[in-house]
Amino acid sequence: MASSKSMAVISLTLVVLLLMSIHSDAQLSTGFYSKSCPKLHKTVMSTVRSAIAKEARMGASLLRLFFHDCFVNGCDGSILLDDTSSFTGEKNAAPNRNSARGFEVVDQIKSAVEKVCPGVVSCADILAITARDSVQTLGGPTWEVKLGRRDARTASQAAANNSIPPPTSNLNNLISFFSNVGLSTRDMVALSGAHTIGQARCTSFRARLYNETNLDSSLAQTRKKNCPRTTGNGDNNLAPLDAQTPTSFDNYYFKNLVRNRGLLHSDQQLFNGGSTDSLVRTYSGNPSTFTSDFVASMIRMGDIKPLTGSKGEIRKNCRRIN
Ligand code: HEM
Ligand SMILES: *[C@@H]1O[C@H](CO)[C@@H](O)[C@H](O)[C@H]1NC(C)=O
Ligand SMILES: *[C@@H]1O[C@H](CO)[C@@H](O)[C@H](O)[C@H]1NC(C)=O
Repeated sequence: MASSKSMAVISLTLVVLLLMSIHSDAQLSTGFYSKSCPKLHKTVMSTVRSAIAKEARMGASLLRLFFHDCFVNGCDGSILLDDTSSFTGEKNAAPNRNSARGFEVVDQIKSAVEKVCPGVVSCADILAITARDSVQTLGGPTWEVKLGRRDARTASQAAANNSIPPPTSNLNNLISFFSNVGLSTRDMVALSGAHTIGQARCTSFRARLYNETNLDSSLAQTRKKNCPRTTGNGDNNLAPLDAQTPTSFDNYYFKNLVRNRGLLHSDQQLFNGGSTDSLVRTYSGNPSTFTSDFVASMIRMGDIKPLTGSKGEIRKNCRRIN
């Protein structure tokens, strides 16, 4: 009968629409590019490895780019957009200006990926894979990265100013910045372990050096030699965040904290008589607990507000919208 036939057509249509709506709401998945770009992981890794071979710090700089991307309106590649006369991006926001680096390496990776699968892989996903590969290359853990993020067509300098925690933060501030993006206090402590690699400028730790007492005196003495008291003198001089093993991804960040050897004021806040002391002790004594928590928290950070489905775009050049 005609009516039962049309009923069947209508129900089939409804099922298809339902499936499409589920699909357009797609979550990230580790196999997102397995058919469309099978050489993706090899391509990214080889560029990351050669960049780190040239300069070990680059691994730290690339890891930080992913953090600064995800905390500002989600992991959408917005940090990579250049300022133009008619567009203000995030590169000159307070936490990034004279500090965020590695953009040329991201360009190299994007060009290499475009060669093997043009127009397929987002810059946001490239940052996620690059962060994982950097950690692994510097001796840290590896994990399967969830993919399928698309690139923003906007950026926000105001959000970058307000969403990334500054080094003057106290423990409560740090907890709030992470909670604002749906991450827990445990995520905050685990992810802070990223400061086991990389460098900070004198301007980021000067006030701690000359004013704080919960700082190991021999570390203070060493750091003062290259970070003069007066603002404007040596502001950009660098010091390793982890004085012990600055280019190895290990748990020395936490071992340092229990000895009052955190470089930033915000670092030492995690071990200063507050609620996170016990977790810092745990990570300092159990590298494998740190490793598994760090991986889980990196995956959670990578899940912050991705653009999926038909939102955003796949940028051709990470520095500008198509
Ligand atoms: C918990 C709150 C955090 C604060 C307050 C903070 C603050 C900072 C500051 C001030 C610097 C030095 C910047 C400069 O002087 O130019 C820095 C460097 C760095 N941060 Fe963080 N950060 C935090 C969390 C994180 C997280 C979650 C990650 C990654 C998962 C991360 C990764 C890095 C890395 C790798 C560097 C060194 C970058 C390089 O050498 O180029 N940080 N951070
Ligand atoms: C962000 O911070 C920078 C540096 O402090 C400032 O120059 C800029 O005006 C701020 N931007 C916005 C949109 O608030
Ligand atoms: C130390 O603290 C005082 C008082 O808050 C402040 O005026 C001074 O600038 C600080 N010193 C440094 C080197 O930051």
